[in-house]
Amino acid sequence: MQEINNNLNKKVLVSGIKPTGEIHFGNYFGAMRQNIELANSNMYDSYIFIANYHSLTTMYKRKEQLVENTFELVASYLALGFDIEKSNLFLQSSVPEHTELSNIFQNLVSMPYMMRAHAFKDAEAKDKEINVGVFTYPILMAADILMYNADMVPVGADQKQHIEYARDIAGFFNRNYNVNYFKLPKDYILDNVSIVPGIDGEKMAKSKNNHIPVFCNEEELRKKIMSIVTDSAKPEDPKNPDTNNIYNIHKYFLSKDENILLRDRFSLASNEAPYGYAEAKKDLLETILKFREGKYEKYLNLIKDKEKIISILSIGAKKAKTKAEVTMNGIRKITGLDF
Ligand code: ADP
Ligand code: TRP
Repeated sequence: MQEINNNLNKKVLVSGIKPTGEIHFGNYFGAMRQNIELANSNMYDSYIFIANYHSLTTMYKRKEQLVENTFELVASYLALGFDIEKSNLFLQSSVPEHTELSNIFQNLVSMPYMMRAHAFKDAEAKDKEINVGVFTYPILMAADILMYNADMVPVGADQKQHIEYARDIAGFFNRNYNVNYFKLPKDYILDNVSIVPGIDGEKMAKSKNNHIPVFCNEEELRKKIMSIVTDSAKPEDPKNPDTNNIYNIHKYFLSKDENILLRDRFSLASNEAPYGYAEAKKDLLETILKFREGKYEKYLNLIKDKEKIISILSIGAKKAKTKAEVTMNGIRKITGLDF
């Protein structure tokens, strides 16, 4: 039976992120950090891309913004440690085979099956005039994943259903054409990542403006942190760290031991050892500034050097395209489009 050959006997890792705006710590801890660590580990043949086709569902009227977001996202990845010697970073649109495969998959899924997608149902509940791109979004994402025959797809918890669609679509294709062409991909959601909360305790998201950007200037960062919502407990009152918005963000930056120390500062606060919210916010700001040390400067330099970003992306695209062409040649034969 025909199947896609993965080279190097390495497992294949695929992940994408949309260039829809400012990168925040929800994106970093929920998706980018895993992508960077796994891609840099040398254990995978990895394909990390900027999902700009997907972003068009919301960015179709904002060309300039899309371009700016794209450069910012690539610069963020690189500044946060993505190693281009070890992995491929590219634009989804540099490999138009993604849309071709998506187009073929559209015929293998039924309307009722697609109408069960959470993201579609949520979007439709808000706006009946949503575009068809929102509806077919999971099919394009299945094409992204299956194009490279991914074993592993690290994503945030909110993407779980999309991976299930990709698994299903792989199965529909294999069964329909009686082949074993696609492997069934797994997701990869770290247990301790879950959903990163924003400054109001709700899920951190740009759309809610409760996010803390990774690479904003120090003044903006300070303002964001100072506006984290707290209750009226006094510095000397013991506080439950788990219901505390400052702790629930700060913990993502800490080692196990640092985490225990911070928990104790909140829960053991007393007249002798007060720990108020102003001090806790100052500590969080310091932690974030330390986290950004070196990275922020690297980011600012990269964002000025568009030529460098373009050349990095074109190297990644070339490698991705080589594999995508092989996959699509097989698909065209299996489907009867080519013979
Ligand atoms: P936004 O909410 O800012 O629009 P996206 O929906 O574009 O972010 O998500 C990009 C990636 O970041 C996805 O993989 C998503 O799972 C992850 N992500 C976004 N926000 C969070 C969060 N608050 N916690 C964990 N992961 C997140
Ligand atoms: N839908 C993902 C998100 O919103 C982005 C994405 C597009 C993706 N294609 C992908 C993630 C393929 C993993 C694999 O974050």
